[in-house]
Amino acid sequence: MAWTGRCPECGEWNTLVESVAPQARSPKAGREKIAAPAGRPVALREVVATETARHRTGIAEFDRVLGGGIVPGSMVLLGGSPGIGKSTLTGMALANLGAGGAGALYVSGEESPAQVRLRAERLGPEALEVRVLAESSLETVLATIESERPAVCVIDSIQTMHRSDLSGAPGSVGQVREAANSLAETAKRLDVAVILVGHVTKEGSLAGPRVLEHLVDCVLQFEGERERTYRTLRAVKNRFGATSEVGVFEMRSGGLTEVSDPSARFVEDANGALGSVILASMEGTRPVLVEVQALVSPSELEIPRRVVNGIDRNRLSMILAVLARHAGVGLGTADVFVNAVGGVRIDEPGADLAVALAVASAQRGQALSGRDGKPLACFGELGLTGDLRYVAHADRRVTEAVKFGLDPVIGPRSGERIEGLNGSGTVREALRTAFSGSTAKPGAEAA
Ligand code: TYD
Ligand code: MG
Repeated sequence: MAWTGRCPECGEWNTLVESVAPQARSPKAGREKIAAPAGRPVALREVVATETARHRTGIAEFDRVLGGGIVPGSMVLLGGSPGIGKSTLTGMALANLGAGGAGALYVSGEESPAQVRLRAERLGPEALEVRVLAESSLETVLATIESERPAVCVIDSIQTMHRSDLSGAPGSVGQVREAANSLAETAKRLDVAVILVGHVTKEGSLAGPRVLEHLVDCVLQFEGERERTYRTLRAVKNRFGATSEVGVFEMRSGGLTEVSDPSARFVEDANGALGSVILASMEGTRPVLVEVQALVSPSELEIPRRVVNGIDRNRLSMILAVLARHAGVGLGTADVFVNAVGGVRIDEPGADLAVALAVASAQRGQALSGRDGKPLACFGELGLTGDLRYVAHADRRVTEAVKFGLDPVIGPRSGERIEGLNGSGTVREALRTAFSGSTAKPGAEAA
């Protein structure tokens, strides 16, 4: 075997990854007749599936996103950018689990026990009872799990775990995959639930966690902006629950606190300024009011800028095209910035109208407001033909807005009568309704 640094197949450098070879079979193995006896498939009806009790972390938002707590023997990947609060969240969960009598083990490959203790001190007395192992050797960690048999074990982070006989550096694809594989095997065999913490960069360009997504039962994403206090936790994959649930947290001095009524927080800050509207959104099964802001300014670039924060960029392009074609709002020579306030990420078609109204308000230099000068609330999906389409849970969205006095809500026309909804059939009609109640403000930005 020769040293190889370049892939003989694709010709790229530094793409080779060391991984463990499967047990060598005899050279003839492939050609021999398979000797193993045939398995016996059974009807699913006859399979016994016991509903095991889940480990509740005692953090309601966390448990809800998990689908009702941690399933024994399962593996959860918690991804997020550095500093977002992964160690804090898992530390708090272990503290509660430990206090409830479940065995909890915190393996830290990044911080010394003293550093972990300093964080725990901020989290309260229960957090100090969690047992910690500061170790990055995979063999030692596996042996410890084997002897300790905790109910839940946190590996913080999976990128620091490495096997000494594999040459790849910690964090390399080979090491990460090997560590996750052995941990998964141990977890299933001993019925230990494992939470893998994984660092994900903002671009999501990380070799580590991505290669693990198929291997774990549940992938959770912890997001938000480090400078902001709000954090959202969402499941992108969950074998044991829905993936639409979102938990909202706020980072405080004593750890993460749950925000059980995020609408109140988000609406509080909205002041009905130019280019601002409130989106009556759905986060999983829960309605949430989120402020959407837009800024439109004459562009000096040949290809004007489209900058988004918390919404999909392609979706914005589509909305701008619909606005231009069907509502007479031309933005071909303007830079457009759109922001979902509070570090929230919205990915549902129901957000279209909010983006459209925010952009139109910014472009016209005309602020939008609802009843009594309150911010204007809206929702609805835009069709390419300029129609305003119905989206799920219209009634719950409106009810949430009514709760904050933000009715009437501008939205798609509905078959059933919804109290507090001002329905429109097209985006043009929705714009007309929205601007008819608005007040012109000085300081128009648009060209
Ligand atoms: P941490 O959980 O260490 O982030 P991660 O493990 O994802 O890298 O915490 C991130 C930040 O949270 C850190 O900058 C300090 C801050 N923090 C608080 O504001 N309050 C607290 O009670 C704790 C424990 C941390
Ligand atoms: Mg950490």
